[in-house]
Amino acid sequence: MSKKLIAGNWKMNGGKVANEALLNALLAEVGQPACSIAVCVPAPYLAQAQSICAASAIDLGAQDVSPHEVGAFTGEQSAAMLKEFGVRYVIVGHSERRQYHGETDALVAAKAQRALACGITPIVCVGESLAEREAGKTEEVVKRQLAAVIHSNGHCISEIVVAYEPVWAIGTGKTASPEQAQQVHAVLRAQLKAASEKAGRIKILYGGSMNAANAKELLSQPDIDGGLIGGASLKATDFLSIIASAV
Ligand code: PGA
Repeated sequence: MSKKLIAGNWKMNGGKVANEALLNALLAEVGQPACSIAVCVPAPYLAQAQSICAASAIDLGAQDVSPHEVGAFTGEQSAAMLKEFGVRYVIVGHSERRQYHGETDALVAAKAQRALACGITPIVCVGESLAEREAGKTEEVVKRQLAAVIHSNGHCISEIVVAYEPVWAIGTGKTASPEQAQQVHAVLRAQLKAASEKAGRIKILYGGSMNAANAKELLSQPDIDGGLIGGASLKATDFLSIIASAV
């Protein structure tokens, strides 16, 4: 079985001094982890994180990428630029981008495509809102979100990572129960398998208030291959404890 992936999503948090302290605290304790590890840092800190994490067990990630290759797109960062800073993963379609920046399924698919074209693994986020869950639409929503990415990426689809992040669980302290999460992960796994046998082996991460206390149980579910961690990735001891649970 392939290694689990524990990815931290720092969101718009951090600063030069705090980043250095956090990364050094992680590097001091992480040793030879059983899982793959990434930190998705704000774009201005990619160079800093790249130099601190060089040749370590911690891979670098970004939080967004332009769907365009190059040109007059003020404020955007291209996949090629991210690649120059050693970025291995980029989050696309996070619910905060879908919600606050109006990102559509088609735009998210285009971003995933640009990342793949530059050899960066997109971490494609899908997830339902509370209203959608209560209306019994969870499956329909996550399948629609993932289908857009599958259809525009053809055989490259086996190179992505998927993150199931129920919107109601993000930053709220409300985690999906291991059974609730597993149920959705199984749906996503089946959808990927139907796309291709290889895609059936794609990592599917869970995200949404994963923490040191609940990580072990979530990560022991058969179709949960890792975590995308927000708040708890900002504290070295919590993030290290989640990493230790990912065996
Ligand atoms: P959270 O965020 O762990 O703080 O809930 C997860 C995410 O949004 O990726």
